[in-house]
Amino acid sequence: MALRRKLIVGNWKMNGNLAALAELAPIAEAARAAAGVDVAVCPPFTLIAPAVARANGIAIGAQDVHAAASGAHTGCVSAAMLKEVHAQLVIVGHSERRAEQQESDAAVCAKAQAALAEGFQTIVCVGESAAEREAGRAVEVVSGQLAGSLPEEAHEGELVVAYEPIWAIGTGKVAIPADVAEMHAAIRAALVQRFGERGTRIRILYGGSVKADNAAELMRVPDVDGALVGGASLTAAQFVPIVEAAHG
Ligand code: 13P
Repeated sequence: MALRRKLIVGNWKMNGNLAALAELAPIAEAARAAAGVDVAVCPPFTLIAPAVARANGIAIGAQDVHAAASGAHTGCVSAAMLKEVHAQLVIVGHSERRAEQQESDAAVCAKAQAALAEGFQTIVCVGESAAEREAGRAVEVVSGQLAGSLPEEAHEGELVVAYEPIWAIGTGKVAIPADVAEMHAAIRAALVQRFGERGTRIRILYGGSVKADNAAELMRVPDVDGALVGGASLTAAQFVPIVEAAHG
């Protein structure tokens, strides 16, 4: 058996409505057929509870969480609240939140810690900008984000890392396999250095313009343990072939 099962996660971002949950049935069917692949969908907060009711075996997750357990944080949602509605997974540190909500590595780390402590599968996102890559600083930037965003202690939940180069998100510009391989190897090395043997078991996802026609090639890159998919996760027609590509 492979050391790490493939994990395909759909991030709906601020898209979708109750009607869109009809997409979950064919996705769940494909997930059942793709034995050995874990499949999850992260819709907006308002759709989590109805999505869980229609999940049919796929995991439903959230796109963010607050670091605190409760309190005066208008507009925010805690890990315990997500647990109560049976979300199983939480994304933290997405580059859109780092940019739009000015989330620092320390803030992302605190959120990850809160999610892991509640037992969530917790995806911590990292990734460089186009300017940083052009300056030859991609690995250095991502290493810095990992150092600052990953919580120290082992918790109940499963830590997952997602490498999402910012310039590849929503642009149709997918990173070339050689660059993905270089970055995922660097992330693996950092995880092993930091967590020892546990670091070999942490899954590393690639995200950024993953589509049906490039997923198989990306899934073959060493240390690519799955994908975090934005636009192509919104319909089963586009998402199912990515799940199938991970099945191999
Ligand atoms: P796209 O797949 O739309 O490029 O989005 C990637 C992403 O940001 C997933 O979190």
